[in-house]
Formats: sequence, C-alpha cells, structure tokens
Amino acid sequence: MEQKKIFMTGDRPTGKLHIGHYVGALRRRVELQNSGLYDECYVMIADTQALTDYYDNPDRIRESVIEVALDYLSCGVDPSRSTIFVQSRIPELFELTCYYLDLVTLSRLERNPTVKSEMRQKGMEDSIPVGFLCYPVSQAADITAFDADTVPAGEDQAPMVEQCQEIVHKFNSLYGETLVMPHLLLPENDSCKRLPGLDGKAKMSKSLNNCIYLSDDEQTVNKKVMTMFTDPMHLNINDKGHTKDNPVFIYLDAFATDDHFRRFYSQYENLEALKRKYEDGGLGDVEVKRFLARVINDVLEPIRQKRHEYENDIPGVYRILEEGTEKARAKAMATIHRVRRAIKINYFEDRKLIEKQVKRFKKQHQDEENLKAYLAKQKKA
Ligand code: TRP
Repeated sequence: MEQKKIFMTGDRPTGKLHIGHYVGALRRRVELQNSGLYDECYVMIADTQALTDYYDNPDRIRESVIEVALDYLSCGVDPSRSTIFVQSRIPELFELTCYYLDLVTLSRLERNPTVKSEMRQKGMEDSIPVGFLCYPVSQAADITAFDADTVPAGEDQAPMVEQCQEIVHKFNSLYGETLVMPHLLLPENDSCKRLPGLDGKAKMSKSLNNCIYLSDDEQTVNKKVMTMFTDPMHLNINDKGHTKDNPVFIYLDAFATDDHFRRFYSQYENLEALKRKYEDGGLGDVEVKRFLARVINDVLEPIRQKRHEYENDIPGVYRILEEGTEKARAKAMATIHRVRRAIKINYFEDRKLIEKQVKRFKKQHQDEENLKAYLAKQKKA
C-alpha cells in the first residue's frame, strides 16, 4: 500500500466552537491544509460521538452541526482542499468500530484518562453508557477509515490516538498489514495545547460557561476579557505579578504576535518585555486585559466576516457537508473492503474463495464416492 500524507480530525457538535478550539486545533488544521504537504485532508463533524453524551438532546446536536460547519468554513477550512463531512452518515465507520471492539478490553477502556475525567465531570461514574465508554474505539475507526497518518488535535486527544495506535498494532499483527499507524500532532505552543477557561479552570468548556466563542462580537469579547481571572496575588498595580498560570498571559502566549505589539501596544517590544514588566510590578491587569481584548478581536475579525458570508448561504453550507460526506464515504468504503479481506469476511467479493470451495466440496464428494466404491468392492469379495 502506497503511503500518502493524510490528516484526519474533527469535533463534536455540542455547541459553537470557542477560541480554545481555534488555538488548539483549528488554526493548525488550516495551516496544514494550506501547506501543500498533505495529499488528503479530512475534517469530521462527530455527531455520533456527540450523541454518546447527548443522546437525550438530539436537537442540540442538530443545531450544532451547522454551527460547527460555519465555524470551520469561517476559520479557513476550505472545502476544495479539505473534505468536511458528517460522521453519522458514514455507516462504514460503525462496521469498523465493531471489528475493533473485539481487540480492546473493558479494563483498557476504563483506564482512558480523558474518558475518566469526562465521566467525573458529567457525574456518569455509576451509570456509564456503553456507547460513551467505547467512543475511543469508534474514534479509532474514524482515524483509520481515512488512512490518516496524522491527527492534528489538542492534548486531550492523546489518549484517543494512543488507543487507536494499539488497535492498529493489534489488527495488523493479527490480520496482516492493513491499517495505517497514525500519530498525534499537538499545537506548537504549550499555551495552545489546552487554553484554560476565563475563570482559570483547566478547560474552556460550554458547560462551564467560561468560553469566548469564535462567533462572539467585539463587545462580547471586551466584556468577557474584563471578567477574566488573573494573578490573585496581584492586588495593587505595584505588586509583583505572576505570568505563569495566569490565564491572561496564557491567552497572550496563544494569540499575541510581535505585530500586535507594534500595532496596539508599542511601548512594549514583545510579550517577553510585557511579562517582565508585570513580574517586576507597576503594570495593572486592566491595561493588559485591554490589550488582550484587542488582540483577540483582531484575530476574530476576519473570521466573523467570513462567517457572516456563509450565514447568508446556509443551503450552500449544507451542500458542502453533503458533498464532503459522499466523498468521505467513498474513501471509507475502500478501507472497509481492505479490512473485510484481511479478516476474511469478504465472502462475496472473493472469486477465488468460491473456486476454492467448489474444489473442496468436489474433492470431498469424490472421496466419498471412492470410499463407497471401495466398501462395495470389499463386500463382494
Ligand atoms: N473526540 C473529538 C472531540 O471531542 C472529536 C473526534 C471524533 C475526533 N473523532 C475524531 C478528533 C477523530 C480527531 C480524530 O472533539
């Protein structure tokens, strides 16, 4: 099998995407798409995976599919270069999941740290739906169905990619080289790997209500940034401040460029200089937050404009999803044929199998005939 460069990634449609998704995944995805280094790019709206968690709220998933599609398109995911598609409409993914479930133990699934923390967060510890526990297996199907060698994603996806690697390894050792081994591609900058919430909690998340959304307008961003947690020890301007573990500086690490300093805050040359001043004392939080809000708005402005254009052509956006899904399905079907052949369940596609079985039964019947003839001869004698 020739090895193409292929990346595959996606998001659960449980709401609009936020700036944590942007720096943790989307920005990189668009760069990779435009880099010319990849032969194929797949970006999936993981509605089936979202249902493992929100099966009791299908309306939320349904509304979020279009929101996520708009977020993708407005951030620069380009349907002429990336295949954007919807998970539930690719049945081959569920067939693959079924075969992979045989290769994974229950205790292995229960050890997955991302699943564990999600269970804790959702209070599922005593009554975990099987579908939820198994979503890492279905995610392995998502990745391998498209022969992806690269999965650009945030740090929280590392346990999923590890699980996938184990499945690929086990599958290939049992059935022969069939699946492509993927690797995780993390954001280049530590602050981007997991952007904390506005409240300083470890993760930006809709359910914690601590997000800035890609679709937030300028005033909303300004307001939200002003509510952000900073260094709790930095009470007076002249106090020495901490920049490490300070959400405002973590966001600046993720977003601010030297160009932003040149344009909006030229008394500082760059982020290093700003941090030094904050740490030495004499720099107020409000001033830093004002700069941060300008930076975020500067990054979001072109995204908002593009979103607005796509919002004016919603049927066109659904068409993009439908065409992408068709294209993705063709790829998944090619993989499923290879997988069925490897597991030897391709009964109807294997001409040689039929010939072989024909020969086997012919020989069996011949042997029976021969034996009968021999016994008859013996009896006579
Ligand atoms: N688990 C991812 C999330 O929570 C979504 C996802 C589903 C995904 N399948 C994937 C990501 C395959 C990367 C590759 O957002």
